[in-house]
Amino acid sequence: MPFEIFFATGNKNKFDEAKLYLERNIRGLILKQLTGDFPEIQAGTLEEVARFKILAATKQCTGNIFMEDAGLFIPVLNGFPGVYSSQVKKMLDCKGILKLMEEYKSLDKREAYFEACDCLFMPASNEFKTFSGRIDGTIAFEERGKNGFGFDPIFVANEPRGNKKTFAEMTNEDKIQISHRSRALQKLKDFIVQQRKLPA
Ligand code: IMP
Repeated sequence: MPFEIFFATGNKNKFDEAKLYLERNIRGLILKQLTGDFPEIQAGTLEEVARFKILAATKQCTGNIFMEDAGLFIPVLNGFPGVYSSQVKKMLDCKGILKLMEEYKSLDKREAYFEACDCLFMPASNEFKTFSGRIDGTIAFEERGKNGFGFDPIFVANEPRGNKKTFAEMTNEDKIQISHRSRALQKLKDFIVQQRKLPA
């Protein structure tokens, strides 16, 4: 039996990645995009932001729905841009991050990770569940690649082993094998499969 889930996001790239992953991995699922104005709070964790954002979305949609908050974390910058990633992307962009990283020449100082937190609301169970995923890597020395969005051109994942490509040099297909988003979505998928007693 086909069933629908709405992904509340204005970001077409995020939606395409999630659709590719979830429709392939949950039999009968149709992922739909819910666009709208979902206010964000400034909070200390991705989970707090995701939980807040989904409240507005549940007022606009009575179906199964999830929302994501994600960010790029750079330990040598004390986790910056982290929960501020979307504003920092608009204000400083990839070039600004590269500038901040100029004094850090060694790869161990250029470590970084992407993290995503998805918050799901299914009216049948009437509860909010969160799922997170992370991918470790390093900040490149220059922007490379045209695919993807956000900080993709400056992030080089540690996987697959020996990888030298930025996320923006990978196809969506390659990115969803390892990304923070698909790792969070994998947990969300396991939960849905179990809730609906679907074959895994
Ligand atoms: P938000 O989850 O929409 O608030 O997005 C946070 C910001 O983090 C985005 O605007 C991007 O700049 C960045 N970001 C989150 N996930 C990714 C990704 O998969 N690739 C590149 N940038 C990302």
